[in-house]
Amino acid sequence: MIPLKRRKVSLTVSQQNDTCRFPHLSIFILERKMGTSRRAFLTRLGRSKGFRIKETYSSSITHIVSENNSGDEVQAWLDNQTGRDTNDTSSSVCLLDIRWFTESMEAGHPVTVQDRHTLQVKPKPNIDPNAMLMKSYACQRRTPLKHHNSFLTDALEILAQNAEYNDNEGRSVAFRRAASVLKALPHRVKSMEDLRSLPCLGEHSQRVIKEILEDGSSREVESTRRSEQYQAMKALTGIFGVGVRTADRWFREGLRSPDDLIRTGQQLNRAQQAGVQYYDDLQKPVTKAEADVISDIVEKAVHAVLPGAEIQLMGGFRRGKEVGHDVDFLITHPEEGKEEGLMPKITNWLEEQGLLLYQKTTRNSYLEKMDGPARAPNNMDRFERCFSIFKLQASAESCTSNSTASVQDVSTGSETERHSDQHSEASDWRAVRVDLVVSPYSQFAFATLGWTGSKLFERELRRWAGQEKHMSLSSHALYDSKQNLYLRAKTEEEIFAYLGLEFIPPSERNA
Ligand code: CTP
Ligand code: MN
Ligand code: MN
Repeated sequence: MIPLKRRKVSLTVSQQNDTCRFPHLSIFILERKMGTSRRAFLTRLGRSKGFRIKETYSSSITHIVSENNSGDEVQAWLDNQTGRDTNDTSSSVCLLDIRWFTESMEAGHPVTVQDRHTLQVKPKPNIDPNAMLMKSYACQRRTPLKHHNSFLTDALEILAQNAEYNDNEGRSVAFRRAASVLKALPHRVKSMEDLRSLPCLGEHSQRVIKEILEDGSSREVESTRRSEQYQAMKALTGIFGVGVRTADRWFREGLRSPDDLIRTGQQLNRAQQAGVQYYDDLQKPVTKAEADVISDIVEKAVHAVLPGAEIQLMGGFRRGKEVGHDVDFLITHPEEGKEEGLMPKITNWLEEQGLLLYQKTTRNSYLEKMDGPARAPNNMDRFERCFSIFKLQASAESCTSNSTASVQDVSTGSETERHSDQHSEASDWRAVRVDLVVSPYSQFAFATLGWTGSKLFERELRRWAGQEKHMSLSSHALYDSKQNLYLRAKTEEEIFAYLGLEFIPPSERNA
């Protein structure tokens, strides 16, 4: 800091022959706005009176004396020295005005530090270090399955769901992003202060959160939850094979539930027929134990028709969920090409065993040449894949869920018609939704990443790729628009690396 020539001067000044009479004190005089010669003079003066005055700043300094500087200026200088980003209240150094020094010189001993001696430093906003670290894309963050803010995220997700029912995707995603940020927080939100500097919290989300924090619930959320439209849309889109458009049309025609569809003899496609038929079973969450039983079945089926094929559990269960709405599998074979036409063989085998209640297979329609970058974001469903409903025999685990189901059936009542062609309540099997996907080996890493979810995590990955990296990510490939080439990857880790992202393991992709 001090030019060499001047330092020499101050070194001659610093002959330490004056004895130190106040060993608990270690003073540093700030040269800033004071100048070298005055500083040298004050240093000589202090030392002659037995004060310890240091030439350089170090952590042993107890008093910093300055002239014509504000407290904030001295604090800023100090932060610069210590490389600290303030806020550190542990540092106990006194920031003093020159008056304390001159009064002490007059008194011949250090005078008691009083308010008028102390430089005032504006308190820094109390920024939560976790909030500071919160990145704005969900794929940059770790989101565990279990978090501390369900009381807020459940509410925001109801609004997200409702926006989806109203075909307002932008609004829905905004609520989901807000909820996702709260899922990544390492603590429970206690006040609006906790939300300061968090990304993705729009004005509307903040209003809802504030109301819940203050009143325990949000009127908007509660009235949405109770609304006829929300409940009907939930019931109707809950039918396998029914999307928002169809449900909305039915709602506007006055239909509210699967029973209404039967009663009014609605035209249903094959998927929707199965959806209505197995509605109650498919409403019941699939347990991990049931998913494991189905894994065994799928493995048996796949190995019976293609030995050497590899099967991986995907979706929510790969992220560590204990229940899901279905079970997802990804299938491949290390010898590229062997997987072609595999799905019909698997479904035939399953059908022969009487294990399928419904299935619809779509063949692989992905062609890199044609589907290339321009269409990449839309080709999530271009693999050979199968939406199915399995007939799962009750095992020890699923017996329990069957008995709770019977209770539910009784309580909702009036389901006789729907149940007449379904299995009886005492039945020893249940219907379970299963998704099967077949991927060529060379695309397996992309398919794995794309089918692990969560849906928001996937969406954010693609947004990150496009907006931040000029790349286009799908479940098939990663295309670099700047280099005009496809980036090959054998593992998920490599894909994260291409995207310049820290690897997030599946259990922390619960955005
Ligand atoms: N997926 C997809 N294309 C679809 C449907 C789903 O690529 N048409 C992907 C989603 O991106 C998701 C994964 O498949 O990552 C699993 O989807 P889904 O089974 O709907 O959700 P889960 O996360 O498994 O949740 P749940 O437990 O409710 O099944
Ligand atoms: Mn799933
Ligand atoms: Mn699925």
